[in-house]
Amino acid sequence: MVANNPFSNRRMIKNPDDFFGRKDELRTIFSRLSNLQSCDVSGERKIGKSSLLHYIFMKLRDGDEYRVAYIDMQDPKYHTVEGFLKYSLKELGSDPIVISSNSHNENLIAFSDSIADLSNEIKPVLLIDEFGKLTERQEEFNNDFFDAMRSLGYHGNIAYVTASLHSLKWLCTAGNFTSPFYNIFSQVHLGLFSPDETTEFLSAKREGVVFTEKEIEFIKRIAKNHPLHLQIACSHVFENKGKVYDEKELRKDIKEEIKSFGDKWTRKERCIVKYIKYSINDIKEIIKSGLSKK
Ligand SMILES: Nc1ncnc2c1ncn2[C@@H]1O[C@H](COP(=O)(O)OP(=O)(O)OP(=O)(O)O)[C@@H](O)[C@H]1O
Ligand SMILES: [Mg+2]
Repeated sequence: MVANNPFSNRRMIKNPDDFFGRKDELRTIFSRLSNLQSCDVSGERKIGKSSLLHYIFMKLRDGDEYRVAYIDMQDPKYHTVEGFLKYSLKELGSDPIVISSNSHNENLIAFSDSIADLSNEIKPVLLIDEFGKLTERQEEFNNDFFDAMRSLGYHGNIAYVTASLHSLKWLCTAGNFTSPFYNIFSQVHLGLFSPDETTEFLSAKREGVVFTEKEIEFIKRIAKNHPLHLQIACSHVFENKGKVYDEKELRKDIKEEIKSFGDKWTRKERCIVKYIKYSINDIKEIIKSGLSKK
């Protein structure tokens, strides 16, 4: 393996120097945040939602206008309302001890009071990644919770930027929430890079990396403006430097790695399994009913 492959990251981009494109989305989000309005980022798996959220986190953290926290809903400490309120306050630099009651309602009030106090000094922003995990836990995160969060956002005491596979409206409707939590959010859909963003990604200066025109054309053709696919294609072409340039072989390896991250096949597989399951059950039913007739 070649040392220092700058395209080896397959997880959230944490270094802002490695983050490319998304200028339009960032402009929309920063402009909304400037008057504490919330945004709901949605997009397919591996399109760059967490990287975008983390970039916003780094940018806001550097200034003195905002107090910002990045929360990953996959982290078990956020899986209960009490944990969510407590650790969010902690991350926002407020005293988490106020979340100490056994009453759900009292904790929501204490959280709201702390955020209202904080908003007198600075603009609080909560970046919530994998928001779908929160709406899955309906026994914990109920309408009262969403109403309290909505009220804080609606009154301009806090702004949220959420990220999830589906839009907030979709998640709230699918979860049968009556709270109109989602309607204080502007939707930001994250899709493929534009051709200009792909060019920006490919032409960035990276130590020890020089791609030929031919390699760049090949990378563009195979990655089709998808940020992760670009990283994967670049990574393989980079590792191949000094070896025989065999596009067919390279294409095979790149496609294989891309496939290992895709969930399209997993979805198809689930459908097939479901179909087979139903078919087997149907067959069993037919056999059973046939036997009982005899
Ligand atoms: N703006 C970007 N600049 C450069 N690379 C990016 C960018 N966005 C995404 N990537 C690449 O895509 C990969 C996946 O990004 P990320 O983890 O942020 O996606 P995600 O949408 O949060 O995925 P998941 O749905 O699995 O949570 C990163 O490891 C990185 O290689
Ligand atoms: Mg993510």
